[in-house]
Amino acid sequence: MDGSSRFLAQSFQERFGAPSALRVFRAPGRVNLIGEHTDYNLGFVMPVALDLACFAVIAPSGDDRFRVFSRNLEQAREWVTADILKAQPAHDWGDYVMGVAKELVLAGYEVAPSNILIYSTVPVGSGLSSSAAIEVSVAKALLGDRPMLPLDLAKLCRRAENNTVGMPCGIMDQYISVFGRERAAVKIDCRSLENEIVALPSAAEFVAVNTMVKHELGASAYRHRVAECAAAVAVIQAKHPQVESLRDVSSEMLARFEGVMEPVPMQRARHVTGEDERVEAFVAASRAGDLEKMGKLLVASHRSLQKDYEVSCEELDFLVDTASGLPGVYGARMTGGGFGGCTVNMVRSGAVLRFQAAVSDAYQKRFGLTPDIFPCRPSAGAGEVSAS
Ligand code: GLA
Repeated sequence: MDGSSRFLAQSFQERFGAPSALRVFRAPGRVNLIGEHTDYNLGFVMPVALDLACFAVIAPSGDDRFRVFSRNLEQAREWVTADILKAQPAHDWGDYVMGVAKELVLAGYEVAPSNILIYSTVPVGSGLSSSAAIEVSVAKALLGDRPMLPLDLAKLCRRAENNTVGMPCGIMDQYISVFGRERAAVKIDCRSLENEIVALPSAAEFVAVNTMVKHELGASAYRHRVAECAAAVAVIQAKHPQVESLRDVSSEMLARFEGVMEPVPMQRARHVTGEDERVEAFVAASRAGDLEKMGKLLVASHRSLQKDYEVSCEELDFLVDTASGLPGVYGARMTGGGFGGCTVNMVRSGAVLRFQAAVSDAYQKRFGLTPDIFPCRPSAGAGEVSAS
């Protein structure tokens, strides 16, 4: 056991007493390099799994209860295991856990009475998918040795978020938490659910900068965007009945609806169709080692999210504008759902320290907040850490 495993075991013991058998499962957060708000439109995304992760420590509870304790929040939730399907959401972190347990039962898996301690190094509200990390680590822990196809695991965790938490999210976060790869990004086709591993150029690093803010607007705006994209599809379908989602629409095809479609759905669809095309171009540029092109695509993605999709905020825009003017920076954009959280910055290897100092200084001066800045180290997807 390394230091953190010992910390986890000790934390578990302090809360639940010494267990006879204890297992630890890990599921990572993610940073999405490009392809934002495209997953629920069945398009393309290109995230990397991070070395920041949620750990779920599990042991049998020995009674009829299913308990979970968050080491970060020092808060507990518990349910009678046999009644889990009747449990009601409490609109807090525990819903991720309860939602996963429910979905397992609905999928025909027995959930054994268990004590679970979760501890996460993914900062909450940072847009780095702390919720999917909880869902996937807990699902792994509850499954134990029972097999489940990785894709089914990702889908089950997404259902937990859709059905119990009530977020109509796409599949990206749960998928990358399961399928993450060391030293590579994963391009996901959110329709076929197949993926392609994309090696990243070694001459650049991806660095996340946290705005340290999360505006409340986020959840309701997300729902609106899902609905606005559906409205755009409905207009297009009147002319092209074969179109099922914005995935089937190119920027060129969409342009023919200018003046026909209402301006707002038009703007949203323009972002999504352009963003899908940017993912493809980004992969091609990455393969060709064209760092300048990759950087330009990142900035184009940000501008589209800012102006057409309208999910950015002052703090994110400031960070992108600041980064874009710094030496050694190829490009930057917001990452995740928006309205706060992190930017992802593509920085020349060797220029990272200077970048960090300059961004931190500028952000501090402008907003009086010190941003957390950390390198994105592409890491493996979910798995068991250790068994005792
Ligand atoms: C959130 C959702 C994802 C995805 C992103 C935006 O992270 O959970 O499914 O839609 O926003 O790209």
